[in-house]
Amino acid sequence: MSFDLKNLVATRMGENYQLHGQHLNPTLVEVLRITGFDKVYVRAEGAYLYDAAGHEYLDFLSGYGVFNMGRNHPIVKKAIRDTLDLDLPNMVQLDCSLLSGLLAEALLKKSPSHLEAVFFCNSGTEAIEGAIKFARAATGRSKIISLKGCYHGLSYGSLSVTGNANFQEGFGPFLVDVARVRLGDLHALERLLEKGDVAAFLFEPVQGKGVNFPRDDFYPKAQALCHSHGALVICDEVQSGMGRTGKWWAFQHWDLEPDIITVAKSLSGGFVPCGAILTKRAIYQKVFSRLDRAVVHSSTFGRNNLAMACGLAALDVLENEKLIENSAIMGQKLLEELDALRAKHSLIREVRGKGLMIAIEFQEPPQTGLKLAWRIMHRIDHGLFAQLVIVPLLSRHRVLTQVAGHNMDVIKILPPLIITEREIEYFVKAFDEALQGCRQFPGPILELARNTALRRLKGKDHHANGRAS
Ligand SMILES: Cc1ncc(COP(=O)(O)O)c(C=O)c1O
Repeated sequence: MSFDLKNLVATRMGENYQLHGQHLNPTLVEVLRITGFDKVYVRAEGAYLYDAAGHEYLDFLSGYGVFNMGRNHPIVKKAIRDTLDLDLPNMVQLDCSLLSGLLAEALLKKSPSHLEAVFFCNSGTEAIEGAIKFARAATGRSKIISLKGCYHGLSYGSLSVTGNANFQEGFGPFLVDVARVRLGDLHALERLLEKGDVAAFLFEPVQGKGVNFPRDDFYPKAQALCHSHGALVICDEVQSGMGRTGKWWAFQHWDLEPDIITVAKSLSGGFVPCGAILTKRAIYQKVFSRLDRAVVHSSTFGRNNLAMACGLAALDVLENEKLIENSAIMGQKLLEELDALRAKHSLIREVRGKGLMIAIEFQEPPQTGLKLAWRIMHRIDHGLFAQLVIVPLLSRHRVLTQVAGHNMDVIKILPPLIITEREIEYFVKAFDEALQGCRQFPGPILELARNTALRRLKGKDHHANGRAS
């Protein structure tokens, strides 16, 4: 019988976690089981996921920011079908394909005019690797300065600049000559730049982990310092770009003129991996500087037709559906409505964000009982409180969210940019109720601890069964 994907999906759907436990990452399976995130979603559309019973789940995670235009967008789907129908020559390699030229042209139209050249790759981390190489080639210097708490990906160059010990543990020594400064610390930045060996200052304008950004004068002053000391500015827009923060690029909130920007995630329209580096022509030509260096930096799949077609469709959707504008308007509304809950919930310390990249940070409450429960919980695990919020958001309210990073009392919401007031209303009500549940301390703590223990036991049984069969 010939290969039939639809039949395969129909007959095997539901075996997801068993297959992953056996053949992929059982540790992830265990985490998902413990937290009750082990749902089997069978369909997705726009801002929603659906399970086999037809239950609707509000997706305020967007695949870590891949679905700015919503899931399974019909225009991106059509672009994929059209690409296949056209039987275009793909990855001839020793040619110049039309679609990559068109996507480069379209991307540059959305960017400030000093960015004139594009390099395509397959992911965010690959874009960072390339950006580091471009900065070194252009300046002849080696050091990269990044920010504490930053996240730039997990391949070696990117992991080396990433300022997060949890991701680095067990993988050292690292590759890149790196120094890190605290967000907002201009003096530390200047001291490093004065040594004259800095190729670039690399930062996410709005940090993904924790959704942090500095006071308004930091980035413009940092950029001026970099340029006066001959160092480049690289903005990592992998998560914050493509309208996520209410502007095409997050650096536009500070009127910056970065020398290099990195893009990925939503550039693919949510289907085919796609990343890009945008830079000045002079920097680009320092890399591809001679005929024998014409492919000195490249990737086999980098300009593949499906990725380019998806990119073209994604840019078109963001523009024509006015999703950048919607991100700014809905983001402001969500921020204000969540902030208003602070009057009611002493557990909320701060609501911050730009556009639809929003963090809610919690704090130790003043009430004696709650304070005690908070302290006990933090003694068990520093990241547990945020779990206590996102677990009922999913189990009781069917809203998918995430903790904002390791060891922080912060949850992050990253909805698709298509959301309307309906989704905002639903989320704010669900979040309010989830927090009310937390106030019945220590009830939910015990519940979480008991679930953790039970699930672990079940998980062990499951593994034992798996081995026996
Ligand atoms: C700011 C930033 N840079 C780089 C990356 C790495 O991208 P990828 O996971 O596509 O390698 C991410 C991923 O979350 C990111 O948020």
